[in-house]
Formats: sequence, C-alpha cells, structure tokens
Amino acid sequence: MNVLITGNSSGLGLGLTEVFLEQGAIVRGLSRRGCPLKTERRDSHDEALRDQRVDLGDLNKIVPALEAVMSDAHRLDVVILNAGVLGKIQAMHQTDVHDLEHLYRVNVWANKVILDWLIESAMPVDQIVAISSGAGINMHYGWGGYAMSKASINHLIHLYAEEMPQTHLLAYAPGLVDTPMQDYLCHDVDTGEFPSVQKLVDAKGTEHMPDSHEAARQLLALLPDLKANHPSGGFVDVRHL
Ligand SMILES: NC(=O)c1ccc[n+]([C@@H]2O[C@H](COP(=O)([O-])OP(=O)(O)OC[C@H]3O[C@@H](n4cnc5c(N)ncnc54)[C@H](OP(=O)(O)O)[C@@H]3O)[C@@H](O)[C@H]2O)c1
Repeated sequence: MNVLITGNSSGLGLGLTEVFLEQGAIVRGLSRRGCPLKTERRDSHDEALRDQRVDLGDLNKIVPALEAVMSDAHRLDVVILNAGVLGKIQAMHQTDVHDLEHLYRVNVWANKVILDWLIESAMPVDQIVAISSGAGINMHYGWGGYAMSKASINHLIHLYAEEMPQTHLLAYAPGLVDTPMQDYLCHDVDTGEFPSVQKLVDAKGTEHMPDSHEAARQLLALLPDLKANHPSGGFVDVRHL
C-alpha cells in the first residue's frame, strides 16, 4: 500500500504514519520538521518511510517536494491531506489579514497545489481524505480563520470530486484528538471570552479526546466504509457516523 500524508511530524499525521507503517504500507510524508520516526527508528519502518521537509505555506516549494518524495511511486492508495494550522483563537476583526492569508495557504491552497499535481502527473489515486473539522460547520466565535479554512476545504473537496472521477475524495472531521494543537486550545485560551473552547478543556484527558494513535487507528479502520458508503466530494464527521 502506498500512502501520502501531509503534516506527519506530529499529532494526527504522525499517528497515521505509525498506524499505516504497522499495516506494512509505504508512507510518504511532507512537513517542515520531518517525521520523527525517520530518525528515531533504525528498523524496517525506516525503508518504508519517505520523508520530505517543506513549508506548505510556501506554495512554490510544494511541487519540487512532491516530485522528490514521490519519485519512485506509480500510484497511491491513500492520500491524507492532514497538515493544518489553527491560528489564534480571537475575534475576527482583531485578526490580521496577513495571518489569515498564511493560514489559508497551509490549510487550503497547499491542498489545491497537491491535488493539481496529482491530476497533472496522471497519478492514479484510489482515495483522498482531507482532514477537516467540526469548526468548519459550527463557525463559533473566535475560530474565525480556522473555521473559514475548514469550510473552504470541504468545498474544495466537493469541487475536486467532479474533476477526479476515478478517485474517491472526502472531507473528514476526526473529532477531538489530543495533539499539540489541543495543548494551545486547552491551556492558553480564555474560556470566559470563548465559551466554545470549554468543551475541549472538559474533554482533555478523557475518552472524548483520544490520542493521535487511537484517532489514526479509527480513521484507518473506517477507510473502506468511507469509500463505499459516502459519495465522493462529501463531508463526514466521525462523531456522526
Ligand atoms: N487535534 C484536534 O482535535 C483536531 C480536530 C479537528 C481537526 N484537526 C485537524 O487535524 C489536522 C492535524 O492537526 P493536529 O491536531 O495533529 O495538529 P498538530 O499536532 O499541530 O499537527 C499539525 C501538522 O501540520 C503540519 N504543518 C503545519 N504547518 C505546516 C506547514 N507550513 N508546512 C508543512 N506542514 C505544516 C505540522 O508539521 P510541521 O510543524 O513540522 O510543519 C504538523 O505535522 C489539522 O488539519 C487539524 O486542523 C485536529
């Protein structure tokens, strides 16, 4: 099995990398820091893990990185468009438009560049899952750019499904996952001002916020069902399955 995962240096992307490697897959990853498994391990996983460091916010660097990491790949079974940034939880009118521009480059446009490359290089791809969020539907106060970017990725996936008829595409909200992204939300956000964050604080350390390995295992187990039972181009929240 051949897999491409963006943002596999930490959190859910790292969990997915571990779980796919356990299944015997070849995993190709893109992130700025690189996947820590690449340096920590010196076993069979090392061969199965291809890693390219790239800032996905620098859109011109994405295609060269893709070409490097995909140099010996002729098809992909699964692509997980996972890399994402949260930005600061704050009022929209206080958010710098240049910060929003950066957030959109990473969360939305980098995925467009990757999808375009897959189409232009005629790479056969079986299944693409873009990691979205319930935030993209809820639009709670404070989640401004992040919420907008996740709504945009849902629409982007819908549009590309029309243009990639041989591939199954889905935007997938993984529910709450205990990752570094949650550390900021649960420790540094004023829940008095942003009450929607209280639910996350309450969930941390409980079964309602599994760790990234568990969330990755859940997504991997769901992949066949997501493909068979959900129309390409749709949005699925794991909490509603
Ligand atoms: N945690 C949750 O509860 C939750 C809930 C819903 C959705 N999500 C989504 O799940 C995905 C993974 O998030 P996470 O919670 O695992 O957060 P995380 O631990 O912060 O991981 C984010 C990943 O994205 C990569 N990334 C960020 N900016 C990048 C850039 N400019 N270039 C390349 N890679 C970049 C990071 O790699 P580098 O820093 O090494 O570049 C890292 O590997 C995100 O799309 C997030 O929106 C998370």
